[in-house]
Amino acid sequence: MQKLAVLTSGGDSPGMNAAVRAAVRRAAYHGVQMYGVYHGYEGLMNGDIQEMSLGSVGDIIQRGGTILYSARSQEFKTEAGQQKAVEQLRTFGIEGLIVIGGDGSFRGAQKLTEKGFPTVGVPGTIDNDIPCTDFTIGFDTALNTIVDAIDKIRDTATSHERTYIIEVMGRDAGDLALWAGLAAGAESIIIPEEPQDMNDILERLHAGQRRGKKHSIIIVAEGCGSASSYAEAITKATGWETRVTVLGHIQRGGSPTAMDRMLASRMGAAAVDLLLEGKKDRMVGIKNNVIVDVDFKEALAQKHQLDLSIYQLARTLSI
Ligand code: F6P
Repeated sequence: MQKLAVLTSGGDSPGMNAAVRAAVRRAAYHGVQMYGVYHGYEGLMNGDIQEMSLGSVGDIIQRGGTILYSARSQEFKTEAGQQKAVEQLRTFGIEGLIVIGGDGSFRGAQKLTEKGFPTVGVPGTIDNDIPCTDFTIGFDTALNTIVDAIDKIRDTATSHERTYIIEVMGRDAGDLALWAGLAAGAESIIIPEEPQDMNDILERLHAGQRRGKKHSIIIVAEGCGSASSYAEAITKATGWETRVTVLGHIQRGGSPTAMDRMLASRMGAAAVDLLLEGKKDRMVGIKNNVIVDVDFKEALAQKHQLDLSIYQLARTLSI
């Protein structure tokens, strides 16, 4: 292969730029030309494709977001859209495509491989909800953003002796809520992977109060519903003053942590290597700190497994 391309798709995540940089520079190391596809699959169908140089990815390793932009495309979900995308890639003489994104983006990549075009996926999402990898690019940065926010909320929660319910992203996965809940010492963590019991939440709050706790922090994963509905239920049951914070898209931005830059650099380079080895229809992952690659079909057939031992640990530490 002499010409490869890279695109970012779906919700952006901190570290995507570091992955693009790694892909461009690893390709250059192998003497291969890398093209950047702008605006995800939408741009791919429209031929929004430009040759990238070593310099074009300079000064981006530390930047959040994605210099290639991202989009969610309805047209690309159609047969005609996918055909258009393959034709554009062939027009540019591109022989392999790296897709940095989440599971929806990977399903798109799979469609291109089915049409005879080699693709490799790099997991980039703050949600950490991709099977067959311990971590996705952006999770660590989002986690640190959340923990920093909770620490700040804790200050005012203590001053006013209030109960705070903080809603975090994650789509259907509870990883961000769970890890942030443990790292920030939340009283309760509400995640989709575990059944919710309001009596248990209330009992934990009362136990804390009996011990003289001045505040309580409850983390709710967005997949479990809105933080305000939990706040209303708690106020109704206890008569206590509650406050709600929905962290929102602040979780998606910011300079990637060193861990995310490392992960992105390793994964971006591995994706290039895979394509040059003639491998396709695979995603890059990390397992026990070793970079691995897995068949798309096998990966997407599985459900992401959250580490429930962390949930149990959090429960034992926040008594
Ligand atoms: O997948 C990343 C994510 O930030 C989810 O956590 C969230 O549910 C969703 O994207 C939000 O999407 P949008 O940016 O389109 O509102």
